[in-house]
Amino acid sequence: MDKRPIGVFDSGIGGLSLLRELDSLMPYEDYIYVGDTAYMPYGTRTEQEIVNRSEQIIRFLEGKQCKMIVIACNTISGLLPEITRREKHDTPVVGIINYGCVAAALYVTYNFSIGVLATRRTVNSGVYREVIDNFDPSVSLFAQECTDLIPHIEAGHIGSPEVRVLAEKYLRPMLKEDIDTLILGCTHLPFIKNIIQDIIGPSVILIDPARRTAVLCLKTLRDNGLLKVNHKEPGKKKFFVTGKPADFKSSAQLVLGWKFPRVERIKL
Ligand code: DGL
Repeated sequence: MDKRPIGVFDSGIGGLSLLRELDSLMPYEDYIYVGDTAYMPYGTRTEQEIVNRSEQIIRFLEGKQCKMIVIACNTISGLLPEITRREKHDTPVVGIINYGCVAAALYVTYNFSIGVLATRRTVNSGVYREVIDNFDPSVSLFAQECTDLIPHIEAGHIGSPEVRVLAEKYLRPMLKEDIDTLILGCTHLPFIKNIIQDIIGPSVILIDPARRTAVLCLKTLRDNGLLKVNHKEPGKKKFFVTGKPADFKSSAQLVLGWKFPRVERIKL
């Protein structure tokens, strides 16, 4: 029985799409969420900046006695080897880019032509290509960045006409590539899943990596003897942001309908 919380972090509200999956799979666990909102978007930042910010957040979460740390951001996950190479962590760290979501995409595709929509940094890093190559290098992957879409989603404006126009702009090149599977390679994107599906058409299957990542987190806890067993009550959640708590609260409420009793501002 390990009652310690699970740490989850992202540049902003995007990681809430993974927290939602973790919570539905393990509702009895406690969670501490950090949104580095003062420094978002990460997608256009340098590798060094992201690695430095992530190290500080991981240290903060370790200071809060987290038993596992979940990187709920594709942009940071792509840099996980750099992050763990510089500093050894006793706490298990799980990133949202893993074999699970890629295996899920490979499982559903019929024409082996897969798309991934992600931040510029994730696209340029080629990390999804690398993970797919571990399975089958002959699979076609079309990676498309969606930089300008992220701040709109972060602000919670998921139903605005601007979001639709931008989503169309970014998805248009993919429509030509005849993909039948699309990985939502940025944790902000599940919040506009319906718009994406509407534009790309019903025959393209959307893969939200959060699903398999949550299952992988459950496995990691189990393998390390860290699960909170004998649980009767729902777990607690605490939220920390580096920007304005009010902005985070209102966006989170707009995208998820969640009301947060406590969002604290921290300096990192
Ligand atoms: N939500 C993050 C991701 O999954 C990135 C958003 C950003 O800060 O650019 O990549």
